Amino acid sequence: MRCVRPTAANHAPWRNPTPPMRTQVAIIGAGPAGLVLAHLLAQRGIDSVVLENRSRDYVERRVRAGVLEQGSVDLLRSMGVAERLDREGMVHHGIELRFDGAGHRIPLSELTGGASIFVYGQQEVVKDLIKARLDDGGVILFEAEAVGIEGALTDGPVVRYTHEGEPRELEGQFVAGCDGFHGVSRGSIPASALTVYDKEYPFAWLGLLAAVPPSSEEVVYAYHERGFALHSMRSPELSRLYVQVPPDDSLDAWPDGRIWDELGARLSVPGFTLDSGPILEKGITGMRSYVVEPMQHGRLFLAGDAAHIVPPTGAKGMNLAIADARVLAAALGAHYGAGDDALLDRYSNDCLGRVWRAEHFSWWMTAMLHRFPDDDPFQQRLQLSQLRYVTSSEAASTSLAENYVGLYRG
Ligand code: APR
Ligand code: PHB
Repeated sequence: MRCVRPTAANHAPWRNPTPPMRTQVAIIGAGPAGLVLAHLLAQRGIDSVVLENRSRDYVERRVRAGVLEQGSVDLLRSMGVAERLDREGMVHHGIELRFDGAGHRIPLSELTGGASIFVYGQQEVVKDLIKARLDDGGVILFEAEAVGIEGALTDGPVVRYTHEGEPRELEGQFVAGCDGFHGVSRGSIPASALTVYDKEYPFAWLGLLAAVPPSSEEVVYAYHERGFALHSMRSPELSRLYVQVPPDDSLDAWPDGRIWDELGARLSVPGFTLDSGPILEKGITGMRSYVVEPMQHGRLFLAGDAAHIVPPTGAKGMNLAIADARVLAAALGAHYGAGDDALLDRYSNDCLGRVWRAEHFSWWMTAMLHRFPDDDPFQQRLQLSQLRYVTSSEAASTSLAENYVGLYRG
């Protein structure tokens, strides 16, 4: 038998009769990170192929985060993909913190020199990016599951994937692992090359989408003795709400009536009525903080949830994914444009400052607003004191505001 030593270029060719597809940047995952990266690369004349293991329909319907920072919106506008976002997205200049039976507004724009946030569903961002990419002739392969990455330390890394039931290979000059927390990219890096920082929270969020006009104009975060609740929205006709539940709870324990009762109790303040309506979608998501360092292994670069997770309380997840993609596109642009790899070498460091600031902010918001199973009255007094402080001191509310809108980069 002929002995072929597997390398990135000739890896097991006899097992795979279809010749490998070639591109400059192989992108795994068509979430916000992968799609923004594909667009920004195309703008710089750099070729990419996106592999996405789900169907187009699935990724365009999957209900997820919904808050965009000003900086993310500015980037999407500069990419020419914000036409629908500007039409349908909801601009917000403040958020409300509710506790002790009263609401307290944090005037985000006033405290940050005019910055706003935009409420626009992640799946809408994904929909807009996919359409624009395909209209431009970009390649996104749906139902193409990456199963392994080889040769990350060579000049020609290869992504093995399955498509239409067949094993295939995509050969890139670089690989961008944008495949979320449960993707294949991070796991393909030897554990000895990574340091993991991980924290799980002893609760989860039950999130729902309901066909009812929002009961409040702004996003409301409620601290309550029964647990945290959040009121958000997706459109003038659609409300998005969350309620803190035990981490191992199942949806069976939450018939619609119980969810509305619990939300009503936790969000209650004098003069506020929570309108209920048909629940279109509901799910339970665990809460976690997670960072892997570095976000790079040779020519494999991790971006977005593949490298870090934040609990959703700070509304940072989608923004971090978009920001990583922007940094990576600039670095690859410098490589292909000026032959300069300084930005690629710095990619992980350049991202991690912002990532850790968002990690801290998200952890802090989570700790301030949730009921912990082992809380004692002392701990609860501390939470209330913190809430009174951030809603009454201009210095403290400015700190919350600049982190929330994403001005403070750290
Ligand atoms: N092969 C191909 N695609 C994959 C694979 C795989 N092996 N594994 C996962 N994917 C796809 C997922 O189906 C998903 O569409 O990668 C994509 C990753 O997208 P996201 O999970 O949205 O991650 P990211 O782009 O980093 O955006 C982060 O998503 O989870 C939210 O709160 C988070 O808002 C944040 C955002
Ligand atoms: C949402 O609208 O889905 C949302 C809003 C604020 C958060 C998290 C999620 O902190």
